[in-house]
Amino acid sequence: MKRQPKNQIKHLIYTSKPINFDDFSISNILKSSQKNNKKDGITGALIFREDIFLQFLEGPENKVDKAFNNIASDKRHKDVLKLKEDITDRKLFTSWAMRGDPVKSWMWSYEDVDNGIVKKLKPEDAFEVFEKLSREIDQFN
Ligand SMILES: Cc1cc2nc3c(=O)[nH]c(=O)nc-3n(C[C@H](O)[C@H](O)[C@H](O)COP(=O)(O)O)c2cc1C
Repeated sequence: MKRQPKNQIKHLIYTSKPINFDDFSISNILKSSQKNNKKDGITGALIFREDIFLQFLEGPENKVDKAFNNIASDKRHKDVLKLKEDITDRKLFTSWAMRGDPVKSWMWSYEDVDNGIVKKLKPEDAFEVFEKLSREIDQFN
């Protein structure tokens, strides 16, 4: 008998630097992300502050690749750097088309970001940030 393929999910993590960041801009980004991602079966989280974006996207491979291509050419940020991409069978943010999270106290100071700590995250450490965030969300829901 043929084995059923597992439920394959692509996840992708990148970091970038916001341009002209403010509340209005982040709210617009999240609104269009949620609308598009819902259609495409993508979920994830966007960690943000005026000095940093770190985004986690998960969903069908072709949709995640397409979304990332759009995102990478968006003029609202620069220095887009992919930190991790993998195929998995588990989702972290099943009920969030795109969750927005301001940088938390356990993440990085402005100085850390300035020193390039986020850009130097190893793939597994970048993933761990989002695993921790998703555990925190579960705990408080
Ligand atoms: C930091 C950042 C994160 C984004 N995340 C997403 C996303 O998760 N999904 C998405 O469709 N667009 C996202 N966008 C927006 C896309 O770059 C692009 O503007 C959008 O897909 C265009 O869709 P629209 O024509 O429906 O506005 C993001 C943009 C930025 C700057």
